[in-house]
Amino acid sequence: MSSALKKRDEQIKDFATKKIMEAERLALIGQLSANVAHELNNPLQGVVTFSHLLLEEHPCDDPFYTDAVEKIVGQANRCRDIIRGLLDFSRQRKPDKTICNLNTVLENCVSLLEKQVLFHNIDIVKNLQIDLPMTVADPSQIERVFINLIVNAAEAMDGNGRLTLTTFFNAKDKTIEIDIKDTGSGIREEDMDKIFDPFFTTKEVGHGTGLGLAISYGIVKGHRGNLLVKSVEKQGTTFTIVLPVVSSEEGNGNGHNP
Ligand SMILES: Nc1ncnc2c1ncn2[C@@H]1O[C@H](COP(=O)(O)OP(=O)(O)OP(=O)(O)O)[C@@H](O)[C@H]1O
Ligand SMILES: [Mg+2]
Repeated sequence: MSSALKKRDEQIKDFATKKIMEAERLALIGQLSANVAHELNNPLQGVVTFSHLLLEEHPCDDPFYTDAVEKIVGQANRCRDIIRGLLDFSRQRKPDKTICNLNTVLENCVSLLEKQVLFHNIDIVKNLQIDLPMTVADPSQIERVFINLIVNAAEAMDGNGRLTLTTFFNAKDKTIEIDIKDTGSGIREEDMDKIFDPFFTTKEVGHGTGLGLAISYGIVKGHRGNLLVKSVEKQGTTFTIVLPVVSSEEGNGNGHNP
């Protein structure tokens, strides 16, 4: 074997080993997150129940009291959302699958988001394959993935740039690929290994919890798919969601990942 071929072979091996280690690491973090989420759920239920009881059954004229209990309810709801996010990441929430058209799911997300101020100066280009096959998936979970990735793209462009959305049927692999491409800040080389970790964020305190990609990763894996990323600093990022095309007969079984 020529030395160039040998080197290429080594590189492929290194890449495959790195990918396996990455998958194992994320599976471990997923398990840990699921355990923490389950443990926190019970005490949190107590906080939610009793704070609601205080508001509804023991109203008080003191505005400080009402304001304080409302704040407790608000923060407890935030904790509940974080717990749900961790459970989604660790694939503990079963997808509710039905036959759907992913172009329609994507279009719905765009029409929901484009009205927001953040998107007013973003040029949205859609390259959607017209005859995209239908597939069995959980549309609300997939919508969540699209929204997370599109909002990230808009934030990375600071509300200015081009967002290109592409859908494509890969007939060879029988998969649907959805590209979400931005012309934003890109991701630093040293951050690439961490972006799918729960709570990893480069955003200012209060602007990001770092759960969007972790949740999206868990949902896509729960559909037996893959979430890939390519990024060039200061030029932009492309996230690719790869989902298998599942027929309604195949999708009738338990859709949960083993
Ligand atoms: N399109 C993108 N371009 C550049 N960086 C990105 C992009 N998408 C994600 N990132 C990086 O990955 C980090 C993690 O993203 P993730 O969506 O998980 O969390 P977040 O956006 O920071 O917070 P949250 O989504 O919970 O509000 C981001 O803080 C950012 O550094
Ligand atoms: Mg995000």
